[in-house]
Amino acid sequence: MYFDDLTPSTGCREPRAWLKSSRPRLSLNGRWKFELWSDPADAPAVPDVREDCGELEIPGHWVLQGHDRPRYTNTAFPFPIDPPRTPDANPTGDHWRWFDLPDDWPADGAVLRFDGVDSCFKVWLNGTEVGTAKGSRLPSEFDVGELLRPGRNLLTVRVHQWSSGSYLEDQDMWWLPGIFRDVTLLARPLIDDVFVHADYDHLTGSGRLLVETAAGAVVRIPELGIEIAAGMAVTIPAVEPWSAEAPRLYDATVAVPGETVELRIGFRTVAMIDGLLTVNGRPLFFRGVNRHEHDERRGRALTVDAMRQDLVLMKQHNLNAVRTAHYPPHPAFLDLCDELGLWVIDECDLETHGFIYTDWRGNPADDPDWAPMMLDRMRRMVERDKNHPSVILWSLANESHRGRNFGTLAGWTRERDPGRAVFYERDRSYEFSDFYSLMYTPLEDLEAIGTRTEDVPPETADDPALETRRRGLPFVLAEYAHAMGNGPGGLADYQRVLERYPRLQGGFVWEWIDHGLLLPGATDHVYGGDFGERVHGANFCIDGLLFPDRTPSPGLIEYKKVIEPVRITGTEPITIQNLRTFTALDDLEFVWSQEVDGVEVRAGQLEVPEVGPGESVEVRLDLQAPTDVVGERWLTVRAVLAKDEPWAEAGHEIAWAQFALPSAPPKDPSPVRGPVVHRAGDLVLGGGEFDRRTGRLMRLFGVPVDGPRLDLWRAPTDNDNGQGGRNAVVTEWRAAGLDRLLHRVDEVETGERELVVRTRVAPDGLGLGVRATYRWVALGDCLRLTMDVVPEGEWGGTAVTPRCGSWPRVGVRMAVPRSLDNVRWYGGGPGEAYADSREAARVGRYVRTVDELQTPYVVPQENGSRIDVRWAELTDADGNGLRVAGSPSFQLTARRWTSEDLELARHRSDLSSRDHVYLNLDLAQHGLGSASCGPPATAQHALEVAPRTFGLLFRRLGGT
Ligand code: GAL
Repeated sequence: MYFDDLTPSTGCREPRAWLKSSRPRLSLNGRWKFELWSDPADAPAVPDVREDCGELEIPGHWVLQGHDRPRYTNTAFPFPIDPPRTPDANPTGDHWRWFDLPDDWPADGAVLRFDGVDSCFKVWLNGTEVGTAKGSRLPSEFDVGELLRPGRNLLTVRVHQWSSGSYLEDQDMWWLPGIFRDVTLLARPLIDDVFVHADYDHLTGSGRLLVETAAGAVVRIPELGIEIAAGMAVTIPAVEPWSAEAPRLYDATVAVPGETVELRIGFRTVAMIDGLLTVNGRPLFFRGVNRHEHDERRGRALTVDAMRQDLVLMKQHNLNAVRTAHYPPHPAFLDLCDELGLWVIDECDLETHGFIYTDWRGNPADDPDWAPMMLDRMRRMVERDKNHPSVILWSLANESHRGRNFGTLAGWTRERDPGRAVFYERDRSYEFSDFYSLMYTPLEDLEAIGTRTEDVPPETADDPALETRRRGLPFVLAEYAHAMGNGPGGLADYQRVLERYPRLQGGFVWEWIDHGLLLPGATDHVYGGDFGERVHGANFCIDGLLFPDRTPSPGLIEYKKVIEPVRITGTEPITIQNLRTFTALDDLEFVWSQEVDGVEVRAGQLEVPEVGPGESVEVRLDLQAPTDVVGERWLTVRAVLAKDEPWAEAGHEIAWAQFALPSAPPKDPSPVRGPVVHRAGDLVLGGGEFDRRTGRLMRLFGVPVDGPRLDLWRAPTDNDNGQGGRNAVVTEWRAAGLDRLLHRVDEVETGERELVVRTRVAPDGLGLGVRATYRWVALGDCLRLTMDVVPEGEWGGTAVTPRCGSWPRVGVRMAVPRSLDNVRWYGGGPGEAYADSREAARVGRYVRTVDELQTPYVVPQENGSRIDVRWAELTDADGNGLRVAGSPSFQLTARRWTSEDLELARHRSDLSSRDHVYLNLDLAQHGLGSASCGPPATAQHALEVAPRTFGLLFRRLGGT
């Protein structure tokens, strides 16, 4: 059958550029009739056009519109691996609609265009078969002029979910069948294709233009006074180049009698020079992200608004590059990249990852029979997208192993478009790639690559010439910093290494958006396994910098800070470093403010002279402190947009830095007041009432509380859980029983001035544990707790238990009444922060409700911790409550459920509020790392098992 043979298509036109033409067009998007067959053998030979069948919205996926259900796998094919055959159970959707041909429709032919149909389809117009096509994320066009009728026409499309093409489409994402991109009827083009070559000579500032198109066509760029014949090369003495930083486009037209095509031309030259990728003569540095097309309700049927939203968010968060993982996006997305300015790696719709389960036996990449199917995809991408200045690299595929066919793809591409570079990560010989590239590379390996001292990969070990070539290539991290759940950690560490070595030309975080889906009528996101399916990828696709509703996650806020293109360092003088490649900083204003304990006392604007790309300047600021001010003094310097940009308004922050200034020392604590008083069986010390037997605090300034009690556990994050058990720090935590600690009180000791509670905290079945000592003292109107935590026993492991080198957290947990749900704090904020994801936390004063402190990870896990908190106030609606201060600071978490609730929940709707607010007041937490697919937290960010001491000071607020 056509759907499981190795023919890419039948009846299709030659691939060509996506053009905006003046010729008539008719959108065929909208409501279509629909009927689903679970086995194509049950379907009639030609779809049965009945009025009484279902309907759906096109573009769209039937599985998101109430028919069948979506399916998520990471690597596994959800059918037996028997290429190119498909299973009998091959959901097949018949789609049909009537449309009226406008009366003035030209009589000289027409083209029916499908911008994306997943995964294989056959088309009939007015009952006559037109053709078939595969290649889900690529356009297919058919000549249909002879079949069109005046008035009503019937368009019928049969779509098969599985096809031979599915073996080439094993990307880590939902399998979403259907006509998910636009369907359009076009009047027959007179200008069939256009190939713009617009180079920029950075030495002379001139542009060179050559437009290959229909013979006799005239090319015009009014702004440059250009009017030339197609096929004629012209040099323009002075043009402004296109770059992602300054995306200068020139409006142009290509015209023949009867048709005008509109283009937006960007002049830029991509070249590999001295082992580096350059554009317009300068080496690039990618601050990138991998982007799948995803919408929580529409799947991959994205609206142009959503595409623009993605790009605006990327620009607002300092990203400069996008890899269209792992297929060509909707063409409108690339128009927006040209317009807003992003470097693009355009990736072919090709991934055969599931062949890992046959040890790559049968992998299409190395089977010449599959070459036509593979080349067809490459050609359709290159031809469609060849006029975008933003597209600078063609990526052959993702994770499809090695194979001869890649030589065919690369060879064809280089010949067709010598103006761009070619990229492919997974052939570790890099024979066909202009780049050396890896994914999720640990920092030490990255250092070695930076200095070109990396190990020789097995693929080039026997071929010195190939190895020499490989070692000469520039390096790009195709994927890193897996943003699954809470994380990624370590972005700043990566950035330091990436920026240190010229060979490292940046990287692309995995990935842009969580693929959580909201099915019709549902309020919570689904992921793999939610339908009881046995083969699935669970929540491995919930790994984005955006939540499924496109709200930025803390990971994106962190990334924005880490990759800011302006670095502000030092106070006397302040150094401003421009990390951009092409543009100065005159689009920015620099503002400063001085704060005392988080309250602004002085502010102003910094006069910054011209700073060219790659340059630095020093600026002086009078930092005189008002002499009578006591408290922590800070200087904050911010670089903000001076005027509106298409992607952000004036005032939008691009970069910032904070500097601690010399501060007046804090006042001495007030003298100790009063000894411990015994009253009605309880112990009273300052504002605290304790159980005499257990030493547990029961009321704090009259507020009923539970705890504080030592806490070493956190609801594991996806990164704590590692990948399939690999790098799973949680394994050692559980083996050490940290999730089942038992508390024993050894002694409650009352003295003249303090209450000391000595405890041992340990899991059943093991000899290891910690001695935890609570030392309470009343200071003025405060109550101070000092905790001593001393590990003892077999943390280093035994013959039968592994070593446990770290703790998830060390701190105390306490429950307070649920009415205390307003939180005000002075410390790091406004968002959550962890040891290795804290660059974006800025010292200041913040206010949030308990609910607002939660980070809504699709799969509940540890979240919401605020770092470096000097003090926090928890109050009820009347302003009564408690204040906690650190010595000097602590990490604060407040939530309506416990860590155990969080750990058990698989979806957000599993969490329900309890009667308390649970506080974690931590000395520290273990870093995040990105071990869900990559390295764990580095030693520097690990919370080592070691003796620890920390203090907390409690005070009453209001009249409680
Ligand atoms: C990469 C792959 C991506 C995604 C990621 C983990 O290996 O290219 O598609 O699976 O890992 O989320």
